This record gives sequence, structure tokens and C-alpha cells, in this order.
Amino acid sequence: MKRKPLLWILCLWVAPQLYAQQATIVQIETKSNSLILKSDENKRLRTIYFGKKLQNKEEAKWIPTPSKSTDDNSGICNAVYTPSGSWSMFEPAISITHADGNISTELLFQSVQEQKESENVSLTTILLKDPVYQTEVKLFYKTYIQEDVIEQWTEIKNLEKGTITLQKYASANLYLNAEKFYLTNYYGNWAQEMRPKEMELTGGIKVLDSKLGTRTNLFEPPTFTIALNKASAEDEGEVLLGNLGWSGNFKIEFELDPLHNLRLIAGINPHASAYPLASNASFKTPSLIYTLSQHGKGLASRNFHNWARKYRILDGTGDRLTLLNNWEATYFDFDQSKLTNLFKDGKKLGVDMFLLDDGWFANKYPRNGDNAGLGDWEENRKKLPDGLGYLIKEAQNTGIKFGIWLEPEMVNPKSELYEKHPDWVVKQVQRPEHYFRNQLVLDLANPKVQDYVFGVVDNLFTKNPALAFIKWDCNAVIFNANSAFLQSQGQSQSKFYVDYIRGLYSVLERIRAKYPKVPMMLCSGGGGRVDYEALKYFTEFWPSDNTEPLERIFIQWNYSYYFPAIATCNHVTDWGKQPLKFRIDVAMMGKMGFDIVVEHLKAEELQFAQTAIQNYNKLKPAILQGDQYRLVDPYTHDFASLMYVSTDKNQAVMFNYFVSNRYESTASPKPVVLKGLDPNKKYRIQEINLFGNQKSSLNSNAEYSGSYLMTVGYNPEVNSGRSSVILEIGAI
Ligand code: GLA
Repeated sequence: MKRKPLLWILCLWVAPQLYAQQATIVQIETKSNSLILKSDENKRLRTIYFGKKLQNKEEAKWIPTPSKSTDDNSGICNAVYTPSGSWSMFEPAISITHADGNISTELLFQSVQEQKESENVSLTTILLKDPVYQTEVKLFYKTYIQEDVIEQWTEIKNLEKGTITLQKYASANLYLNAEKFYLTNYYGNWAQEMRPKEMELTGGIKVLDSKLGTRTNLFEPPTFTIALNKASAEDEGEVLLGNLGWSGNFKIEFELDPLHNLRLIAGINPHASAYPLASNASFKTPSLIYTLSQHGKGLASRNFHNWARKYRILDGTGDRLTLLNNWEATYFDFDQSKLTNLFKDGKKLGVDMFLLDDGWFANKYPRNGDNAGLGDWEENRKKLPDGLGYLIKEAQNTGIKFGIWLEPEMVNPKSELYEKHPDWVVKQVQRPEHYFRNQLVLDLANPKVQDYVFGVVDNLFTKNPALAFIKWDCNAVIFNANSAFLQSQGQSQSKFYVDYIRGLYSVLERIRAKYPKVPMMLCSGGGGRVDYEALKYFTEFWPSDNTEPLERIFIQWNYSYYFPAIATCNHVTDWGKQPLKFRIDVAMMGKMGFDIVVEHLKAEELQFAQTAIQNYNKLKPAILQGDQYRLVDPYTHDFASLMYVSTDKNQAVMFNYFVSNRYESTASPKPVVLKGLDPNKKYRIQEINLFGNQKSSLNSNAEYSGSYLMTVGYNPEVNSGRSSVILEIGAI
């Protein structure tokens, strides 16, 4: 082939020059990290770096852009929000059927804007546009600088004349560069929540997803860790921890591209959810919330905890109520006088509140089991002839607050609500009903149902302003997804899964507008429901129905990577064979409650429980607001060890549990190196929560410098005879 050498040389010289002038570099920074995006010669915005912060911002211009798997543009793997149907060969973040039926989308960089919301919070907004279709996409990156957290979401605007259909609409499309990637994800089932599995990602796409509609975490949560280059460790290595803030169907995809880099796409699950978007309408996705740490999972978790307490969980920097719950003590079998006696038991125990669980409502179909009554939220006259008002007063007279259980999104077919409003129920009328725990889900896509659910809560508070707490349960998944409301509006059923969750959030929004402070627990027959969107409205969540304390150590351990202790409800129950001390010690690691029959406690057990609650109240600043350090991993050792240090580093508490009985050896044969203390402060260590006349084998008179404890460490002397050891560490 004949070439014109001069022209070629000119082209090579001119093109990069022109490009250098046009390229925009977007730098999104937190305290320790930089996320750097750059537009290429085609105006496609690409992620060129996400990692340790550049010392010199100016040098971002030297970062190479490549990440092309082939020589042409179709091989670009690192688009910030990968479109489909045009040039990309990879898993898309967005896929649209345009008003004219065309299925191609291209997104080109238009502008960027940074807005400072406070000293610590900034919002970067990037505008992308399709050059052919009138589609606008805005990418939002909210940075929480000190916590190294980024919250990312997307808004898609239809400026075409007709309705478009969003086939896929991810929240975020990250790109990570490393030699190897290790994904930790979690799986499980009822009472088996948060079982971790770490694996090296290989070619192809690994997907975490849920299609359950509601309580969508039942089999796996939208929560993950990615370790770069080597498997994750507690205090070293680069790790990314993430959670999708969406309580409905989710999909998180991890795709290793041909360059062996990781494309991460997270958002609402597009499964059966093609979403029509009318002309001029916008669609806002949920947020992916993530934190990148250069020093392992420990720091990443503390960053998440700090962020969540300060910016996300309702009343995250406040206090929490200890409580006595009657579920496992009575199940459905109680009456007014039994309950008022339980108030006295709660008072005797020393907790702040009594929580009345399931079974207090419905008359035509009384709630005496889980097969009837859900939806009929008025007091059962037989069990509670004087109503909730009386109970609340009695509780107050006893000196204890009163909270109540609700499951307002659900209905039993055997209920007056179902009889009156069959069209409020999610079902396919032409198919047999399919139940989960004998119940069905109400159609929260319907504004009338939203009003009803809001009304349930509002009526309770209007009638009983002293009501101190709500346990909001959600025990069924969605079968036969179908909304009579959407049908009546001539709207597509494929909106249902999204509109259900939006309906739920809108109800919660209204509740919080009117009752901003009342603590509420997010529950669902176990850890079927916790994410960082729902936690905007809740003060705490129920990690699992499994309260067997050995299991709990592992379950709580795994939740602790992502959620702070203040939000994690731990109840002492009769599950398992461990002694009361062990059970209480485990529950103390988070937000403590009791679900036992107090009158069955022996005198020294009761005394132990009372003292433990006093110890807990004293240690709350460290447990609920302090920094958490996972010291000894129960997956790799015969014992677990964790500590919490108050922010002023004057108070700390170390929890140690013997978890493996396979060898009769001492579980903690050597000192455990402590973390998070002030090296220059002196500390005294005292074993607390000693049962009966148990004497500690530890010396409580010695004074240690923080530096010593964080270098040599301290042996809690855990063994089969001392299976749970709590140490209070106080600065002198
Ligand atoms: C769910 C909850 C339990 C209890 C029951 C009541 O299973 O997880 O704690 O509230 O519902 O039916």
C-alpha cells in the first residue's frame, strides 16, 4: 500500500496535541484516595485511576488512559458508565430502548461541576449526553472526605418526545486496576445470614443478585468486599467495601475484562423491571456506597462505621434503649396481666424498655398464630381488653418504656384487610396464591396502600404518643409479582418491583417527617433486610433470628465489616447450650436486648444480668460510638477477640470468646496485641461480667502503657473454662 509519510507524521503529532487540549480530567478526592476520570479523544469519559491519593494533583495528566482490550474503541473497558447497543463489547451500566424503538446509546462527556456541601462533604456532578438521542445522564459522586467514603448514584433524563424504556439503569460502574481481585460475598438463608466466601475472581462475570422483591437479602445481601492484588487482610492491603442502598431487587456484577482489570456494575436488578420513562421525566437510581482502604478491612470498616453514624443511620450518634422483648418468652400466648408482669421483670432486670412482639392485634381473625390477622392492626380485645393505652401507662408506672412490633407491609389471607381490599394484595388473580409464612405482601406501588400503611403507624402514635419504639418486621418475599393498581392505571407491570420499594421509602419518609426521632428496628425474620438506604429511617436492624451465641459471634463478626455496633441488635435468648454469661457477653457487643423469661433466672443469674446491664450502660460510649477493632478472627483461631475504643481513647472494652472445642488446649496461648489505644496513656485492665463468685485469673492492679499493649499485647486467658472474657480497659 502506498502511504504519504509526511501526512502520517503530521497526524500523529496533531491528534494527541488536540486531544490534550480537549481532554478533561475529573479528580474526585477523599482524605486518602483519588478517583480520576478523563475524557478521551471521542469525549468518552473513562476511569483512569482509583487508588491511593496522588500527592500532586497536577500529575494526574501523566496517568495513561489505555484500558482498551483491542486496538479499536470497542475495546474500551473503563467507561465511567458503559452504554449499550453502540460501541461497547462489555456488560453495560445502561441500556435504553428509545422512543423510536432504537436500542443504541452512546454517552459523551459534557461538563462537570463540584459543589461543597460542608467542610467534609462535596458533590461532583458529571453530565453525559447521547449525541444522537436526547438522553441525559448525570453521575453523582458525593464524597465524605474524612471517612474516605463515596456515595455514587445516577440520574437518567428522557428529553425525547416519547416514552423511553430503561432496560438497565445501574447506580455505578467502577473500574479497578490490579493484578488480582478477591471478592468476599455473603450467602445464607433464614438463621444462617452472612456466611462469607472469599474467592479470586477469574474471567467472566460474577453476579450477586436478588429477585425476592422485598426482604431481598434473605439469600445474599448487596454487600461485598474486593481485595486488590491479594486476599483481604485486617490491617494491610488495598480493599474496597461496598453496599448498595436499595431494599429491593439488586444486581452487582464483577466482570474481569480482557486486560484483567475489574469492572464493577451495581444497581437495581433489571430482572422483570424494564422501566418506562415518560418524556421529560428523570429516573434517580439508588446509591452505591463504598470505601477504599489502603490499610485493610479494619480501617475500611471503621470508616464505614463513622460515616454511617454521622451521616446515615437515624440518630447514629445518639443513644440506644436496652429492652426486654416477649417474643421467645410468650410467642402468641399472652394477655394483659402476663404482660404487665413482664414489665416488672424488665424493670427488675434494669432495661430501658419493654417490647411487645407479634400477637397483640386482630379480632375477627385473632393473631394467635402466624396464619391469621396480619393487616388488622387494632388491639385484640380478648388479650388486651384495656388496649395499648393501658399497657403503655402500666409500663410507665413500672418505670419502663413501651415499644411495639408491626409488620405493616403484609397481610394474611385470613384477615379483614384482605376481605375488604383484595386488590391491595400482590398476586396474580388467575393463578393460585403462593404464601411465605402464610402471608402475602401489600401493593406499596399503590398510593392508597401507602396511605394505609402510613396510617397504621400514624394512628398508633396519635392514640399513644408515649409509644417509644417500633420493631418493623417483614417476613415474606414477593411471589406472583403483580399490581392491580398499575394495571388499573394502564401502567406496565415491569415497574412494580421498583415502585414497591419507592412506595416503601415514601411511607418511611412520611413517618420520619412526622416522627423524626422515635427509634425503629428494621427486622425481617432475620437479616433479610439491611442496607444503607433503609437505615436512613431506622435506628437499628435485626441481623438474624439465630441468637445461638456461638453462631452469633460469626454473624455479628461479618456484619461488623459494614455496619456499626450501634445499629446491630443483639438479643439474649435461650437458643443454644451456652451459659447465661456467654449469651449476655455476646449480646453486649452491639445494641443489647433480652428475649428470655426473667422469672426462670436463678438468683445469681439475675444478679449477673443486672450487673452486666450496668456494665453495658457504662461502656456504651466505647461500644456504640467508639472505634471497633477485630483482633482475632474466629474463622482461623480457636477464639474470637474484638475491642472497642472510645473516641477520646480513655475507655476501651475487649470481648473474647472461645469458639472451638476441638482441642482441650488453651485457646489464647499468647497475648493478643491490642489496637486503637493512645500509646502514651497508661491503662488498667479489669475483667468484668464475672459470674457469681467467679474470680478473675487476671491481675487488675498492673498499669500498662498503650504502647506496651499495642506492642506486646495482653492475654485474656480464654479457654474452655473461661469461654467468654470481657475486659474493661480504662485510662488512668
Ligand atoms: C420474625 C422476627 C421475630 C419475631 C417474629 C414474630 O420472625 O424475626 O423476632 O418478631 O417475626 O412473628
